[in-house]
Amino acid sequence: MLSVKKITLDYELSLSGVDNFPVIGWEIASDQQSVKQICYQLQVSHDKYFDVILFDSGLINSDASANVNINDILLHPSTRYFVRVRINDNHGEESPWSAVAEFITGMMDTPWSGDFISAENSADKDNSKVTLVRKPFSLNKGSAVASAYLHVSALGLYQFYLNGQKVGDDVLTPGWTSYHHHLLYQTYDLSEQLQRDDNVIGAELAAGWFKGDMGFTRDRNYYGEQTALICQLVIHYQDGTQQIVVTDDSWHGEDSPILFSEIYDGEICDASLEREGWNNTGYDASYWRPVSLIPYDKKVLTAQSACKVKKIAALEPVAIITTAQGDTVIDFGQNLSGWVEFKVSGKLGDKVILRHFETLDAEGNVYLDNLRSAKQRVEYVLKGDAEEVYHPQFTYQGFRYVKVESYPGKILPENFKALVLHSDMAHTGHFNCSNEDLNQLHHNILWGLKGNFVDVPTDCPQRDERLGWTGDAQIFCRTASYLMHTRNFFAKWLRDLRHDQTPEGGVPHVVPDILTGHCANDINLAAGGTHSAAAWADAAVINPWTMYLMYGDTRILENQYQSMKGWVDFMLTHSENLIWRYKLQFGDWVALDAKEGSYFGATPTDLVCTAYFAHSTELFSRAAKALNRTEDFERYSALHQQIVQRFQDEFFTPSGRLAARTQTAHILALYFNLVPEPFRERTVNTLVELLREHDGHLVTGFVGTPYFCHALSQNGREKEAWELLLKEDFPSWLYQVKAGATTIWEHWDGLKPDGTMWSADMNSFNHYAYGAVGEWLYRSVAGIEADVDEPGFKHVIIEPTIGGGLSFVDATYQSIYGEIAVGWKVLDERVTLNVTVPHNTHATIKLSSLGELLSAQDVDFKQQGTSGVANVGSGNYTVEYLRA
Ligand code: BGC
Repeated sequence: MLSVKKITLDYELSLSGVDNFPVIGWEIASDQQSVKQICYQLQVSHDKYFDVILFDSGLINSDASANVNINDILLHPSTRYFVRVRINDNHGEESPWSAVAEFITGMMDTPWSGDFISAENSADKDNSKVTLVRKPFSLNKGSAVASAYLHVSALGLYQFYLNGQKVGDDVLTPGWTSYHHHLLYQTYDLSEQLQRDDNVIGAELAAGWFKGDMGFTRDRNYYGEQTALICQLVIHYQDGTQQIVVTDDSWHGEDSPILFSEIYDGEICDASLEREGWNNTGYDASYWRPVSLIPYDKKVLTAQSACKVKKIAALEPVAIITTAQGDTVIDFGQNLSGWVEFKVSGKLGDKVILRHFETLDAEGNVYLDNLRSAKQRVEYVLKGDAEEVYHPQFTYQGFRYVKVESYPGKILPENFKALVLHSDMAHTGHFNCSNEDLNQLHHNILWGLKGNFVDVPTDCPQRDERLGWTGDAQIFCRTASYLMHTRNFFAKWLRDLRHDQTPEGGVPHVVPDILTGHCANDINLAAGGTHSAAAWADAAVINPWTMYLMYGDTRILENQYQSMKGWVDFMLTHSENLIWRYKLQFGDWVALDAKEGSYFGATPTDLVCTAYFAHSTELFSRAAKALNRTEDFERYSALHQQIVQRFQDEFFTPSGRLAARTQTAHILALYFNLVPEPFRERTVNTLVELLREHDGHLVTGFVGTPYFCHALSQNGREKEAWELLLKEDFPSWLYQVKAGATTIWEHWDGLKPDGTMWSADMNSFNHYAYGAVGEWLYRSVAGIEADVDEPGFKHVIIEPTIGGGLSFVDATYQSIYGEIAVGWKVLDERVTLNVTVPHNTHATIKLSSLGELLSAQDVDFKQQGTSGVANVGSGNYTVEYLRA
């Protein structure tokens, strides 16, 4: 039977706060094979029963079941809409109407009637206290409430309350953006929560990223000096009238019992100062002070419909340890980002003090040094109730361990929980195989993602940094997008990237950019500037392109088009005869072939810069093609050819030796297709030689590592790629696993074989960058590969790389069309391959090392030598063969 399994809006199941009609997609279910959609019909209504139809597409002959746009419907602000679809397929079946998807519009073009209001004054500039603001109001008499939508944002962080209850389950709102250009507001449905007569709304406000103490140079007030709230509560009554409650000078403010809260340093709360019931009716706030109005450009406010930070999971302690030095430490068994929630009983004035950290030192003692100046400290002063429960709210910590510096009573595991925070994204990738270490590596990569996708893709979540380093986000983008649904996460961040670009198209090292103008104390940045490093700045092109590849999303290419072009043009402008470099370059950052004590790997800067210049130019030309911008396509694809030629002239000797004899130089040349065809074999051989010189180990940094396995396996060296992946001694991915890592480390030698550590000045144990090998697990080991010509996995290329001595691999990727599954089993030389291809897509299955085909029902393989190729429609397939 044909049905629509799931309908999505902007790739989510529901949205709250949109300014434009979302793109629509749906997943098809059927018990048939080779299902193709022939036509669809979409309807939009204000009510979930579709009594009144606002829009009906009629039957549209189309096979599009993703990225479908409806343009001819006029949306109204603060309004709920429902969408449903039905389809017909190539087997003559017709689906019933799908379940409904729904969304609420944001403010759209409605002006904000209220102002930003603050309970702070100019003397609070350097203050990290939390303040409260509140306002009682009554509903209009007469008619009942039909709907009530709240639009709210803040300068700083906020938590909003209605009649004593927190509104929504988002945390760290409104998130971190390039606030001067782009400040998100959130939209919540309060229709059911308003009381008939009197109501109170209020908020807590904290410094957060807006005015807090941020960056490794520990500056503050990057965007402003006072926290402030803005909101607009739009109440529609059933008689058609409307009431609007906004932030204005009728609100009152007061200090909160949270005396201090900062992203890096943690939180101090004195519960004895709690103003019980402050956010509810019946509270006497006559002593509160009037708020002040803060001038701020309201035009920068934009709706955030999804992908907000939430409490995603709670972990129990795995052990409570007493260290050699006598400290009591709670071990949560997993490096993560979030909060510790604790229960405590004691007397008024008793304290709980927690220090959060990542790892124990070689003697098993508390190790805080790699946090640098970040305190990661939470202090709670008890009010003396029977049982008090607390977690911080306007900070977050990166930790596995917690040192309990003070706690009244016995420290019992049941009184502590680690709340895992990250941006709310659906899990899309699953990987399981017969090698447990590889499974743990996959786990560590996933947790690296979780720990660092806290609203912004950060380099690390624990030390005084946690910045949106563009290079890290670039190299990890594809891996992240196999693991989780990153589209809306990256769309938000890329918007900031384009806002923060220099007028000339230069791309900041970190986005949101808080380094420019704030790094006099950093020798490298002060001298070399804060933008435009190869591999870092290329996030401007590679990340939107990756979104296109993974989701078939042209909107992100449209939105980022000028930004992408700006970056390519920047490189062109700063190149000399198409070889470029510019001020500070990170090169093959933290590679092991760096000189003693240096972070900069041995691969020459101009080679790295020019390789990325070629790569980004090529991707940009493809983006131009995808958007039918023929002139740009022609211009930039010609430019790409010229850069490749220059690269070859400059870096290859006439006999085919790549001038820079480093692993990374060879990887880039191969993976970015910069090798003259006659020299390919020599280049691959030299790469293998360079591996052997290090006893099969990599010595690569941020630039070479992500593509190492690809560069080998795409050039017939699958065996070497597997060996590299499965290496267990230092330096290698599994070395970390064997050392007990639960996330990915910043350095191959973060923890050295002799138990000592890399210098504490830069030694994160939760840095996703080297987790970029994750894409090799999906794209090559499982072999779930996207096709540039039919992106978003409309056409799936399935080409598993069987090897590594594994007896089985099971991997799935939840594409926008549905689940793609690849499982392979090997027994002696007999391989069983199971494949699932989602409906309304098709796949090409490619087998290498094909000896004899044993069975392949419904799969028509064309065999040539030892390779086999078959095209299949949707469905489940099993192929059995003997390996050559
Ligand atoms: C960060 C890196 C980043 C690098 C750039 C470090 O401090 O943690 O991941 O990309 O600086 O130099």
